[in-house]
Amino acid sequence: MVAFVSAAAATVGAASPFVAGFRPATAARRPLWVPRPASPIGRRSTILSPIASAGSPVAAAADTVSPAAAKTHTITLLPGDGIGDEIMDATVKVLEAVASRFDLSLAMTSALMGGAAIDATGEPLPAATLDQCRASDAVLLACIGGYKWDDLPRATRPETGLLALRKQLGLFANLRPAKSFAQLEGASSLKDEVVNGVDLMVVRELTGGVYFGTPKGIDTDPSTGARVGYSNMIYHDYEVQRIARVAMDIAMKRNKAVVSVDKANVLEVSQLWREEVIKVAADYPEVDLSHMYVDNAAMQLVRWPKQFDVMVTGNLFGDVLSDCASMLVGSLGMLPSASLGDGSGPGVFEPVHGSAPDIAGQDKANPVACVLSAAMMLRYALAETDAADAVEAAVEAVLNAGWRTGDIMSDGKTLVGCKRMGELLVEAVSAGGK
Ligand code: IPM
Ligand code: MG
Repeated sequence: MVAFVSAAAATVGAASPFVAGFRPATAARRPLWVPRPASPIGRRSTILSPIASAGSPVAAAADTVSPAAAKTHTITLLPGDGIGDEIMDATVKVLEAVASRFDLSLAMTSALMGGAAIDATGEPLPAATLDQCRASDAVLLACIGGYKWDDLPRATRPETGLLALRKQLGLFANLRPAKSFAQLEGASSLKDEVVNGVDLMVVRELTGGVYFGTPKGIDTDPSTGARVGYSNMIYHDYEVQRIARVAMDIAMKRNKAVVSVDKANVLEVSQLWREEVIKVAADYPEVDLSHMYVDNAAMQLVRWPKQFDVMVTGNLFGDVLSDCASMLVGSLGMLPSASLGDGSGPGVFEPVHGSAPDIAGQDKANPVACVLSAAMMLRYALAETDAADAVEAAVEAVLNAGWRTGDIMSDGKTLVGCKRMGELLVEAVSAGGK
């Protein structure tokens, strides 16, 4: 059963958009990455995907959530801007198909965020949207931003809304897996031998660092009259420690290797980062910890990415390196992400890519990153392992059958638009198997 309430209904104060059975997020929820013994919840498929492999990053994370028998999962959808509507539309249909196949009860309610929210309310993250997100089991976000809002004052830019959402929900850990798809050989701008078999996880700190540090501003230097812009890269020890723990816990479920990326040869903040990561690593004797300066890490990512298992880094470095890592897979259009907090509230699941205003409304976008983000949501927030497996298997099946959107197109494959790609994924989900 799927209940879907439109953004309009949600924002004009219609009667509660949530269907019967809605339960608010409980404060007792456990952190998602706490390692637990394997649990029997659901089967795990052996499909090759960025997030589903047996030793996968937080593969057992879903095991920390209670079994979900017949519970209605409340999901806030934030389609945002640009290609957001198209990819969200395709993703919702995939979720409906998977709900029908596995008899899940999903209550999906759309809300305004980003430029769309600015146009309707003057604010990028209206209080009603934030309240609705807080009351949900999970949040699925497409993408935000666009030329139209680029010249607005910072406080009312779409990006500011996204940062506020992350901060308000306490989502300090951003997991960005980059795992190559065998079907997309040739899609990366790098040589096949460099990218085939890449399987890494960027663990990006998301609520601190230079993105949020103060003081910040654009002023006039009183002594010279020159304009001066400044932001402050700042980390507290506890911020570094908790993200380092996330990285170590993830590494324990993968190949037990963490590279911490910093700029400790120049920045004091990085020196502290490195010292605190080393302290945390003492609790993980099995994890092989090494350190890399960010400039070298960028170079190593394109030189020989298979050397990496888990990379942990600050907000700004993680932003840059995760875009870089996406090209190893071939397209930003394939990369999902999860933003998680301490488990006391919902996580936000979103593609790594932006709103691509240049192709918005042209049915050219690749919905796969959004669909795979929904799969991460099913797995890690909603504990619907079978459904998550089925969505990931559908992506594999559609790629195996040769269907491609423009960003991953290659010779001999069949080009389709966003809508058709969504339909193919729905068919594959409904058909089951590969
Ligand atoms: C990302 C994006 C955001 C960021 C922008 C849109 C604020 O680039 O999620 O990587 O810088 O974090
Ligand atoms: Mg980015």
